[in-house]
Amino acid sequence: PLLTGLEILAAARAGGYGVGAFNTNNMEITQAILEAAEETRSPVLLALSEGAIKYGKRQLVDMVIHEAKRATVPVAVHLDHGSSYESCMQCIEWGFSSVMIDKSHEDEATNTRETKRVVEAAHAVGVTVEAEIGRLGGIEEHVVVSEEEAILTKPDEAERFMQATGADYLAVAIGTSHGANKGKGRPFIDHQRIQEIAARIPNPLVMHGASGVPNALVERFRASGGELQYASGIHDEDVQKAIEQGIAKINTDTDLRLAFTTRVREVLRQKPGEFDPRKILGPARDEMKEVVRKRLELFKSVGKA
Ligand code: G3H
Ligand code: 13P
Ligand code: NA
Ligand code: ZN
Repeated sequence: PLLTGLEILAAARAGGYGVGAFNTNNMEITQAILEAAEETRSPVLLALSEGAIKYGKRQLVDMVIHEAKRATVPVAVHLDHGSSYESCMQCIEWGFSSVMIDKSHEDEATNTRETKRVVEAAHAVGVTVEAEIGRLGGIEEHVVVSEEEAILTKPDEAERFMQATGADYLAVAIGTSHGANKGKGRPFIDHQRIQEIAARIPNPLVMHGASGVPNALVERFRASGGELQYASGIHDEDVQKAIEQGIAKINTDTDLRLAFTTRVREVLRQKPGEFDPRKILGPARDEMKEVVRKRLELFKSVGKA
């Protein structure tokens, strides 16, 4: 069934496990996420970015909401990185149960004002809200403190922001970044900062840019002709430690993109005579489902639904 993001995430933070928020853009990705969630009895969030909505239009939105309602595990349909009040309101009107308003690139006063406006309107109709404070970036371990402080989420600012806005869950900048290259070697995750934020904020915390960018997948992508010079993701142990420290929502998009494209490349290479889309997209769907299943096991959400 369709639940709010907060209903799913509050249970996760209280229970010390993480919930996966996976980005979807089409039918196959949606099926992969929901089948893995149902088979492992895991709650899950289906995340749609504004780019996803532009690509898939109402057909994608309606399918995702319909399938979330039909699912036998708790599912929230979530707007990822909503850029404006209007964008959030449009998604709420369509039936989303969770929205993110991302004004993290504005100053604190603007972020606070804009987030509060979305929270008031969303709460009036029973939808819960993610906000963000701090800026994700390619932080490396050797970065000087003043530079780091300018980007990563400040615990006191985060506490002030949550009290002023009434947002339900908070995306924090603690060292991750979006995409397939999160920094040289093992990307630096500021665990102490997560703990300091979690000590001040009882709300579920959100880790963006959490993909693992598995080496095996990267190697297969390259072996099948894909070009990817630098690749690095968040280590499994860092994700698990972050969950123990208060992260309840973990965003994954890149790993699904890599799995999809790798398998499509392999099938096209191995079967040059194949031109039935189902024989190409079906294996890609299986590959993504396996990625989702592994992530849900890592987050320890298996059996929580
Ligand atoms: O954080 C961004 C997500 O990976 C979605 O990306 O805006 O290209 O759909 P997108
Ligand atoms: P990745 O690029 O690490 O998959 O992060 C996705 C994300 O944060 C979506 O909001
Ligand atoms: Na940000
Ligand atoms: Zn993100």
